[in-house]
Amino acid sequence: MNKDQVIQALAPVAPPAAIRNAAVREGTVSLRLDAPTDRGDYDRFAMAAARAVANAAARAEQRIDSITVELADADARVVHGVTFPPARPPEPGHRPIQGLRNQSAQLQTNSLPGVRHAIAVGAGKGGVGKSTIAVNLAVGLARRGHAAGLMDGDIYGPSIPTMLGLEPLEPVVLRGMLQPFYVHGVKAMTIGKLVDPEKPLIWRGPMAHGAFKQLVEQTEWGNLDHLVIDLPPGTGDVPLTLAQLVRLTGAVIVCTPQRVAQDDAVRAARMFQQLGVEILGVVENMSYFVGDDGKEYDLFGRGGAEKMAARLAVPFLGAVPITMALRENSDAGNPTANFEDPERRASEHVRRAADALAGALENLVSNLQSQLSLAAVRQGATRPTLKIT
Ligand SMILES: Nc1ncnc2c1ncn2[C@@H]1O[C@H](COP(=O)(O)OP(=O)(O)OP(=O)(O)O)[C@@H](O)[C@H]1O
Ligand SMILES: [Mg+2]
Repeated sequence: MNKDQVIQALAPVAPPAAIRNAAVREGTVSLRLDAPTDRGDYDRFAMAAARAVANAAARAEQRIDSITVELADADARVVHGVTFPPARPPEPGHRPIQGLRNQSAQLQTNSLPGVRHAIAVGAGKGGVGKSTIAVNLAVGLARRGHAAGLMDGDIYGPSIPTMLGLEPLEPVVLRGMLQPFYVHGVKAMTIGKLVDPEKPLIWRGPMAHGAFKQLVEQTEWGNLDHLVIDLPPGTGDVPLTLAQLVRLTGAVIVCTPQRVAQDDAVRAARMFQQLGVEILGVVENMSYFVGDDGKEYDLFGRGGAEKMAARLAVPFLGAVPITMALRENSDAGNPTANFEDPERRASEHVRRAADALAGALENLVSNLQSQLSLAAVRQGATRPTLKIT
């Protein structure tokens, strides 16, 4: 379909003057329409617009993979957005699997249609290692050959520029879109590279929403298997905005073993559940300490976060030890080193700590991948297939 056909198809729903933008690219139709006056009509109106286009496409025997409808107010601000995958006729012999949610019947907001799995990394408590875990999950996934991205959703205190070593790089804008940095095999974007790193960032609610939305929508992520999103501490505006903008496969909760950290993590888990976001699992960071003597020290009460996961009945993704190397590599912007053997001249102890760290991170990535597959099946994005050979 071309743009004119789309505009023509929309005629019964929206007159040309109400169409602010209509674009067709590789089977994806993007529409921006004037929002109806009554907020309660948004969904119905967006659905009607998507249906009109889908029906016209079907009549013209044109294939469309998805239709995104955005509704804009009089100031051209997008106030509502939905992505609508038009229901395809079932293939012959196909029988719906009981218990799976039918995605095509459901309207969902999704500003990142090219991203297969969007994964939020959050926790209630500050400083427990959310950013560290987010960085290492993204790098770990990329090292396994996946197209991985990392978005620094901590618009208040971005740490990703340091952790990925972005300091010498300059942001690039092409065709009005921010180009993600490509480092350690990962596409990354952070507000930390767009503002003065020395100045504190003070955002009020709506500003935080706007800044975050821009970072999501105005970055050219392209097609990604995984986009890991590092969240600020707390249960504030950003997770809310995120859950509204992006269809998340789920959230990873980072927690240290102590009771006080667990309490905050439970609040974060409840927040995600209230937002309708699945918990992919809990990571116990700073689980134990591997010293230079190679011994393991149980500083914070190893196993505390694992028990909390069991209490919440959510998966446990694994434990990551405190190691000096992890802190050093994070400060040096070199997460790749966490996955690699230390230099040959390193002592036996350093080697043992590095092995413990690399093993823990690989285990985490494996478990996350399993949980993502399960979540995708539960959410109806993938159907299990049985191959008989
Ligand atoms: N397992 C670990 N071993 C050693 N150092 C760690 C570990 N996890 C995190 N750190 C260090 O602890 C500090 C805090 O970690 P990080 O910035 O990832 O936490 P955060 O939860 O993202 O913090 P904030 O709430 O401020 O966003 C960093 O200096 C990081 O390098
Ligand atoms: Mg952080």
